[in-house]
Amino acid sequence: MKKIIIAIDGQSSCGKSTLARQLAEELNYIFIDSGAMYRAITLYFLRNHINLPHKTAVQQALKNISLEFVFNQHTGRSDMYLNDENVESLIRDMLVSENVSEVSAIKEVRDFAVAQQRKMGEKKGIVMDGRDIGTVVFPDAELKIFVTADTAIRVQRRFKELYEKNPTITLEDVKANLELRDYIDTNRAISPLQKAEDAILLDTTNLTRGDQFKKALRLAKEKIKQHS
Ligand code: DC
Repeated sequence: MKKIIIAIDGQSSCGKSTLARQLAEELNYIFIDSGAMYRAITLYFLRNHINLPHKTAVQQALKNISLEFVFNQHTGRSDMYLNDENVESLIRDMLVSENVSEVSAIKEVRDFAVAQQRKMGEKKGIVMDGRDIGTVVFPDAELKIFVTADTAIRVQRRFKELYEKNPTITLEDVKANLELRDYIDTNRAISPLQKAEDAILLDTTNLTRGDQFKKALRLAKEKIKQHS
């Protein structure tokens, strides 16, 4: 069977990553969480106090960043490594979430990440999730899915995830962060979050994870058959 590229885009916490990971596992494809790359860059910028509007400082900082996904035998998943350090857990912190939309709106940052993402897809057989995968990174992806879910549901899902690690977090904090990120991600000048014309809309508000997966897998199998 010929391998294809599957692009999954959508707002924060709409279930994209879970869906992309499940699909990749089932199809024996590579799963790439492109948001993790922007989060790792943001962590580096925070740690090194990079002055965001300062173009040269940003360019210089990017030269010192190496990103890699490394398979973790214990979890069976790939972890994000920033300059050989496993930052998978750190990049999910609220401080990174609060700054990542601003960092990922910078042209130099996007050029840096997109070049690496395209390289990862050269051999196809990849499921990548993000905001601009079907529109910018892989405009020719054979299957594009645009995932949505009501804000209240997304806030609940995100809260549950974060509360396990940090019981001081409130629902209001999570809601404010999600809404702000959605706003910036959708309204930025470069590669804003938008549905590609040829993307299939998948509203997960009333779907279980199992149902989402079944629908997406059916679409993927159809596309793979079409392109074989
Ligand atoms: O998927 P996520 O919530 O972990 O992504 C974190 C942020 O990274 C998101 O708010 C916007 C940015 N992002 C992006 O601009 N483009 C992508 N392809 C993926 C993520």
